[in-house]
Amino acid sequence: MKKTLLLLACFFSCVSFAKNNPDWHSQSNYTDIISTNIHLNLKVDFDKKQLKGYIEHSLKTLKPNIKVLDLDTRELEIHKVTLLTNDKWQKGTFKLLKPHPVLGSTLRIVLAKNTQKVRVYYNSLPQASGLQWLTPEQTAGKKHPFMFSQSQAIHARSWIPIQDTPAMRVTYSATITTSKALRPVMSANNNPKRSADGVYQFKMPQAIPPYLIAIAAGNIHHKKMSKQTAIYSEPAYLNIAAKEFEDTQSMIDATEKLYGKYRWNQYDLLILPPSFPFGGMENPRLSFITPTVLAGDKSLVSLIAHELAHSWSGNLVTNATWRDLWLNEGFTSYVENRIMEAVYGKERAKMEAALGYQGLIRSLEEMPEKDTILHIEIEGRDPDDAFSSVPYDKGHLFLSFLEERFGRDKFDSFLRQYFDAHAFQSLDTTGFIKYTNKNLINRYPGIVSDKEINSWIYQPGLPSFAPSPESDAFVKVQKHIDNWIKNSASLSDIPTGKWTVHEWLYFINNLPDTLSLKRMAELDKAYQLTQSQNNEIAHAWLLLSIKRRYAAVNERLEDYMISIGRRKLIVPLYKELSKDKTSLEFAKRVYQKARSGYHPLAQGTVESILKEATDKK
Ligand code: BES
Ligand code: ZN
Repeated sequence: MKKTLLLLACFFSCVSFAKNNPDWHSQSNYTDIISTNIHLNLKVDFDKKQLKGYIEHSLKTLKPNIKVLDLDTRELEIHKVTLLTNDKWQKGTFKLLKPHPVLGSTLRIVLAKNTQKVRVYYNSLPQASGLQWLTPEQTAGKKHPFMFSQSQAIHARSWIPIQDTPAMRVTYSATITTSKALRPVMSANNNPKRSADGVYQFKMPQAIPPYLIAIAAGNIHHKKMSKQTAIYSEPAYLNIAAKEFEDTQSMIDATEKLYGKYRWNQYDLLILPPSFPFGGMENPRLSFITPTVLAGDKSLVSLIAHELAHSWSGNLVTNATWRDLWLNEGFTSYVENRIMEAVYGKERAKMEAALGYQGLIRSLEEMPEKDTILHIEIEGRDPDDAFSSVPYDKGHLFLSFLEERFGRDKFDSFLRQYFDAHAFQSLDTTGFIKYTNKNLINRYPGIVSDKEINSWIYQPGLPSFAPSPESDAFVKVQKHIDNWIKNSASLSDIPTGKWTVHEWLYFINNLPDTLSLKRMAELDKAYQLTQSQNNEIAHAWLLLSIKRRYAAVNERLEDYMISIGRRKLIVPLYKELSKDKTSLEFAKRVYQKARSGYHPLAQGTVESILKEATDKK
C-alpha cells in the first residue's frame, strides 16, 4: 500500500515525465500510448452553456510498461474517471496538472496493467475557447439558441479531454442529446431525418486528427443539393445557400479527376450564423461555412472549393504539427485554385491567384521576417497568434512554382500519388521534402535544385525566382485606374458594367494611397461602394475609407463590424482604426456593441489590437 502511494505521488509530480513531443502543442503522451477510437456521450445544455457527459477512449500502447495516460484539456471540469481492465470497469485515479498558459492542463490518468479503455466524465465551461454559444437574438431566426465548435488548431481540448495533436488519428462515434426543437450535427455521418426525442447517433468510421472533431446544434434544417451534397442551416439560409453552392457536386467531380477519389462519402455544408470567426472550416463530411459568402452571384464560392480541397490536403494528408500548417493550407490554396479553374475557367482562377499574390506581397511587408518562413518557428507560441497568409499564399506560390517548372502533367500525377501515398497519415515538412526529392526532384533531374527547395521552405520572404501571378483583366483595370488618376479619363469612361467582383476588388485594392477625399466621394457617388452588399467589396472599400479618413462610411462601417464576426473581414478594420487616436475611440465604441456577437477567438484578437494601440498612445 505504502509503495502504491509513493508511486502515485510520483506519477503526479515527477518532473521526469516532462515530455519532448515532436508536436510541441500537445502535452499528451501520444508517443507512448494512443487512443484509436473515441465515443462521446454528451448533452448540449444551452442554459448552462456546457457540454456534459463522458468520453470513452479505446487504447493502444506503443511502448511497454506505460503507467499513465496523459490527455490535453483546457478549462474542463473533470468529475470521475473509470477504467476497463481485463473486461471489468473500475474507478480510476486522475489529476489535473498545473495549467500551461498556452497548452492548458494535462489530465493524468493512472492506468492499471492491461487497461483497454478509459472513460472520463466531464463538462466544458461556458468560456470554452473552442465553443461559441449564441443566444436566439444572435441567430438568423431569433427564436432558438445555437452553438458550434471550432477546434483547429488547439481548441478541441477545451471541449474534449483528448490527445490533441494532428500527429494522431481517431475514429469516433457519438450520442448527442439536445432539446427536441433543436438538431445537433457533427463532422460524421449526419442523418437528414430529425429524431423524435432529441437523441442523435453519429459515426465517423475514417480516422481523423482531433482538430477535425466538430459539433453544432441549433434550429438546423436540411436541403439536399445532389447525390453527395446537401446544406444544413437555419431555415433563413437554406434555399439561398443551396442556390449559391449548387456547383459543389461539380467541384467534387473535378477534384476527383485531378487527384483521385473523394474518400469521405458525403460532402455537406453547414451554414453558420455570421459570428463564425472563419470563412470556413473543413470539418470532414460537413464543412462549416460563414454566411458572409452568400453573395447571390457565386462570386465568393472559392471558399467552398477551398474547404472541399481539404478533403485531400489536410484531412486525408495532415500536417503532423502546427509548424507544418503550410502542408495543409498551401496545398489547399493551390488545389482550390485548380478546382476554380476546372469549374469556372482559367480567367477567374487567374484573377483569384493574382489577388492572393497581391495580398501576400502586402502582408509580407508588414510581418516580422521570422514569421514569413513556411516552416515557421512556433514553439512556445499559440498557433492562433502565428496565423497569417504565409502558409496559404506562399505555400500556394511554391506549388505553382513546382507546377511551372515540371509542367502540369508531371506535377499533377506527382500530387495525386502524394495524396495516395499518405492517405490517412500525418506528415511533417521533412517527410514532405524526402518524398518530393525521391518522387519529383531527383526523378526528373536538372529542373529544380535542392537549394531552391530549401530557400522556399526555410528562408524568409519570397525567393527571387518566385512566380508572380497576373491576370489580363487586371492589367486593363490598372490602365483605367492610371488614366483616371492622371485625369486623362473620367469615371464614366470605365466599363464597370461588365466587371466581376474580382475586378472590383482589384480596382479598390489598387487605388493610390494618396487618394483625396474629393476623389473618394466621386467614386462613392458613381458606384455606391459604401452600400455594396458584397462583403468582400464592402471590406475593401471600408478599409480604404479608414485609411483615407473618408468619414461618410462611418455608419456603414459600424453596422458591418457589428453584424460580422469573421476575423478576416473585421480584424484589418480594427487594426487600421487603431492607428489614429480619434478612430481608435470609434473602434472601441463599436467593439463594445459588437463584442457579445463575436466568437471568443475574435474577441481575443480584437482586444489585443485595441489594448496594444491604447498602451502606445
Ligand atoms: N482550416 C482553415 C481555418 C483555420 C486555419 C482555423 C488555422 C484555425 C487555424 C480553413 O480551411 C481556412 O483556411 N479558412 C479560410 C478560407 C479561405 C482561405 C478561403 C478562412 O477562414 O478565411
Ligand atoms: Zn484552409
